[in-house]
Amino acid sequence: MSHGSASPRSRPNHTFMHNSKVSAEIRRKLEQAAAKVMKNAHAPYSKFRVGAAVLLTNGKVFSGCNVENASYGMTNCAERTAIFSAVAELGPKIEIQAVALTNDHGVACSPCGACRQVIYEFGPDATIFFLGKQGPKQAHITELLPEGFRLQ
Ligand code: THU
Repeated sequence: MSHGSASPRSRPNHTFMHNSKVSAEIRRKLEQAAAKVMKNAHAPYSKFRVGAAVLLTNGKVFSGCNVENASYGMTNCAERTAIFSAVAELGPKIEIQAVALTNDHGVACSPCGACRQVIYEFGPDATIFFLGKQGPKQAHITELLPEGFRLQ
């Protein structure tokens, strides 16, 4: 998601200092960015809006929301919307440092299996922030996706 009509939608809307560990402040900013983009979700079928903010190792942040379709299987999750925007803007060499997720029901929601694999492609060392059953949670992508698929 981007802000301002002059810039393309995929422009990063924030730039943060790079840090190998994500501070509480950066986490909060990622969650804020995710909550903001969540409002743009197209979720008339599930009525479950999701927002994702992806922090790259270069400090840039891309955000995305879920985009559903009358043909349900065509739905794109928030995480993949954000990651694909980053690739469209910066190319395939992006490295994901962290992903924050929000939803408009305030319920536990970790990345779906497909999104875990897509996060792993660009962020084999990524940290994921989400709402777990016991409240806010963070996990390494390999905890969520052990033995993720790689071609080489
Ligand atoms: N959804 C996401 O955007 N991300 C996830 O990781 C889980 C599910 C969306 C897809 C669909 O639009 C809605 O949540 C209900 O499944």
